[in-house]
Amino acid sequence: EFIAHPYPLPWSHSGIFSSLDYQSVRRGYEVYKQVCQACHSMKYIHFRHFVNVFMTEDEAKAEAAQALIKDIDDTGKPIERPGLLTDRLPAPYPNAKAAAAANNGAMPPDLSLMACARHGGDDYIFSLLTGYFDAPAGVKVEDGKAYNPYFPGGVISMPQQLYDEGIEYSDGIPATQSQQAKDVSAFLRWSAEPFHDDRKRYALKILAVLPILTFVLLYWKRHTWTFLK
Ligand code: HEM
Repeated sequence: EFIAHPYPLPWSHSGIFSSLDYQSVRRGYEVYKQVCQACHSMKYIHFRHFVNVFMTEDEAKAEAAQALIKDIDDTGKPIERPGLLTDRLPAPYPNAKAAAAANNGAMPPDLSLMACARHGGDDYIFSLLTGYFDAPAGVKVEDGKAYNPYFPGGVISMPQQLYDEGIEYSDGIPATQSQQAKDVSAFLRWSAEPFHDDRKRYALKILAVLPILTFVLLYWKRHTWTFLK
């Protein structure tokens, strides 16, 4: 089975002590919302998760309020209401069967944990989103499918999604295809690993203390056993 390996990209968070680029994560949410959300759910992410990450509480509340959430009223009647901080990001389809039916039988997978679920993570997502090419001779691509060498097997049921200036960013940065792919990959890295920065901060603290602790323990050990000399 042919598969192209995603190339390692110089992410702002690539270094062992470096953090996510939250400007990029924020733009990535705009890409998700305007492009990917039409087909992909992110069921583990709630609006409250945005607070103090890339939105203020008021911004996140306003963002949630723009979303129409399917719910039931007190009598059990289905209703739609504005979202709250405690709501999940709204899913495009009611269930997996409906999702598959709307996409030629291939269900668009939930994206919350995608950056950890797929080999290559953010590198893979970037490569996949920017990796649509004409199929080489001998590769058959059925209607509704597309050739993409980064997808295992080379033929994917997700057509190309990102185009230069396909969306507009609220911060005015030019929305090229690769910019959008970068930002949405950073957003998906954050969503799969919201504790990413804390993890690296802990590592930094532990590595800072460890050498000192080593000498303290060494001295203590030698001090304890001096009488044997
Ligand atoms: C699959 C990302 C937009 C339909 C996938 C996969 C990823 C992804 C990472 C998984 C590939 C794998 O299994 O390794 C994205 C992102 C989007 C986006 C980041 C926005 C930029 C869309 C849209 C649609 C769609 C708008 C529907 C029109 C699908 C389908 C699959 C899929 C049907 C399953 C493909 C297969 O199994 O052959 N997407 N997607 N995606 N996506 Fe998207």
